[in-house]
Amino acid sequence: MVDKVKSIWMDGKLVPWEEANVHVLTHSFHYGVAAFEGIRAYKRADGKTYIFRLTDHIQRLLDTCHLALMKPTYDREAIERACIEVLAANHMEEGYLRPIIYMGEGAMGIYAPDNPVKTSVIAWKWGRYLGASAIEEGIRTKVSSFARMHVNINLPKAKMTGQYTNSVLAKREAKLGGYDEAILLDVQGNVCEGTGENIFVIKGGVLHTPDLACSVLAGITRDTILRIAREDGIPVSECRLTREQLWLADEVFFTGTAAEVTPVREVDDRTIGKGGRGPITKALQARYFDIVSGSDNRHPEWLTLVS
Ligand SMILES: Cc1ncc(COP(=O)(O)O)c(C=O)c1O
Repeated sequence: MVDKVKSIWMDGKLVPWEEANVHVLTHSFHYGVAAFEGIRAYKRADGKTYIFRLTDHIQRLLDTCHLALMKPTYDREAIERACIEVLAANHMEEGYLRPIIYMGEGAMGIYAPDNPVKTSVIAWKWGRYLGASAIEEGIRTKVSSFARMHVNINLPKAKMTGQYTNSVLAKREAKLGGYDEAILLDVQGNVCEGTGENIFVIKGGVLHTPDLACSVLAGITRDTILRIAREDGIPVSECRLTREQLWLADEVFFTGTAAEVTPVREVDDRTIGKGGRGPITKALQARYFDIVSGSDNRHPEWLTLVS
């Protein structure tokens, strides 16, 4: 359950939680064209709260609108201000932010280009997405029977609500089968990503991840890890990977704003490496947490001060 907060930002106003409702004829509710983001704010070692890579997330939100032919009514700066405002209004030192741009009520039917485009920003507290122990011990995963969408079927680079039926189905299948998370391949068998995470494979000291021409979201945590790895002299390869390369990996981990950096200890009942968090994963994870919530100040451009 999401803990109730005091206010939600809706089209320029802070609205009490109970009144933050949408009409049942909201177009996006019926047809799934809404752009959204997931962003985290952390309290860092200096005692202040910062939003991590806010501008990059809002740019991706606007890119999703561009891909989906939705015209946002607020610009990047205004949505960034709304994110800061909603955290401050709810006195949150840490939290998860969910901006969403959606098509409101008006015409029904698939083609409703004149319906109003609406914007909301919600904040809530969110702990470890894949469970408290996952960060240290790793999780058990299963390759899904659901394939990740082909690039001509939908918009893999968009974070668009309707596309998440694919993730929900894969996640349900994995959980009901006794696993923590699903890994989706594309229809050709290339490894893509988790249901809400990008995936990394370490083999022989080299860090591999599916390249951006694969059906993956261009994860901001993925980009962060690639940059940190390069800074730390870890060789990086953006490439195509098969299921067997997962099974034969020394280490596997997921990245995502919600999942942060989560080790994968098992894929399809095969133990990965020694079956826990591997040494390179541990080092990259430590670097990541030190940047978002510690005292590593090498990337001030990634941090937006809230208070
Ligand atoms: C399908 C999918 N892949 C990957 C990610 C990771 O992206 P990010 O690191 O920007 O949160 C997410 C989360 O937004 C996602 O939903």
